[in-house]
Amino acid sequence: MDKYAYYKQAFAGLPMPYAYVDLDMLDANAKAIAQAAGSKKVRLASKSIRCTEVLRRILDSDKVYQGIMCYTAEEAAFLARHGFDDLLLGYPQWHQDAIAELADWIGQGRSIVFMIDCLEHAAHLEKIAKDRGIVFAVCIDLDMSTDYPGLHFGVWRSPIHGWQQLQPLAEHILQSSWLKLEGIMGYEAQVAGVGDRMPGSPVKNKLVSWLKKQSIAEAAKRRKEAAEKLAAMGAELRFINAGGTGSLDSSRLEACVTEITAGSGFYAPGLFDYYASFRYQPAAGYAVEVVRRPKDNMVTCMSGGYTASGSAGPEKLPKPYLPEGVILTKLEGAGEVQTPLLCKEGVRLELGDPVYFRHAKAGELCERFKTLHAVSQGRIVAEYATYRGMGECFV
Ligand SMILES: Cc1ncc(COP(=O)(O)O)c(C=O)c1O
Repeated sequence: MDKYAYYKQAFAGLPMPYAYVDLDMLDANAKAIAQAAGSKKVRLASKSIRCTEVLRRILDSDKVYQGIMCYTAEEAAFLARHGFDDLLLGYPQWHQDAIAELADWIGQGRSIVFMIDCLEHAAHLEKIAKDRGIVFAVCIDLDMSTDYPGLHFGVWRSPIHGWQQLQPLAEHILQSSWLKLEGIMGYEAQVAGVGDRMPGSPVKNKLVSWLKKQSIAEAAKRRKEAAEKLAAMGAELRFINAGGTGSLDSSRLEACVTEITAGSGFYAPGLFDYYASFRYQPAAGYAVEVVRRPKDNMVTCMSGGYTASGSAGPEKLPKPYLPEGVILTKLEGAGEVQTPLLCKEGVRLELGDPVYFRHAKAGELCERFKTLHAVSQGRIVAEYATYRGMGECFV
């Protein structure tokens, strides 16, 4: 049976729009990612999953999966309340109440590590830790970007560009009574999060591939140098974190790296179709309903405009997925309440039919739907609440 007929039959009768996760594909992706990580552990990027039951399923699938990279302190506390442990905040946190709630969980024995990249972050956490008589574990975020004339290749996040900035912060933490240095992280976003097989851009793809190659070597050098110099200072790191879904094949080759973060590869959203070195299965999507036919070769669906974050470009639009042969129009894209679609020859959709889309990014899909209908072997086997469905909205 073709995939469109398969989903249409499995989800028959569900009111649209609805989101789904294909567990057979999700499990296949989890297997493939575990394999791609080689000897490294994989920490789950929860921002790219946003569903506790999916997080649990992946963690239980293989012991290569250990721990979660959370995106806010509130989210980390929520995950702690739901029984998750080994939580690394992927980004610096500032609000005292949320940090204080995490202090309570740490006091009860949970492993929760804060991300920092400057002395101000350190001092802020120290004050809260001192007030509560607790020690906070911290991880230093290392900048992995590279500047070329006219191009900042990478993301703007940490001001720790090298040893010159790392040394004073590390010294401060090692001398602190309230902080413990447990790890370092270098996220080479320009390798992990940038596709190098974008359609219609052969020249840009070549340039990006070349730049990525340089970045892979540079990131490895920076992480190795940081690890060696910190060890020479007496720091005993529990982990060295690198990468994302898009850099599993390069991050895993670095001897000093102990774990790689991955999230997007499990759902494999639209943007993850454009990497030369891997392809995971499209495990998540959503259905919208055909409600009108403005002309013979067109249909219009109700809703559908779930556009992804980041710099605005057509690649951030959701991708019509099934049936094959339906495309967005340039002028309207995916709309707030209506999405018109051009149907290629041979594609005939009736009113009430579903059209399946894939979001450009992974976790953002879950901000639009309260549940993911879990399908396996042709039938719905569960309905998983998303963070939104659990009444949560962290960012
Ligand atoms: C710090 C960090 N590590 C890893 C990732 C990779 O996540 P994913 O596998 O979803 O691309 C991200 C994504 O933004 C990140 O911010």
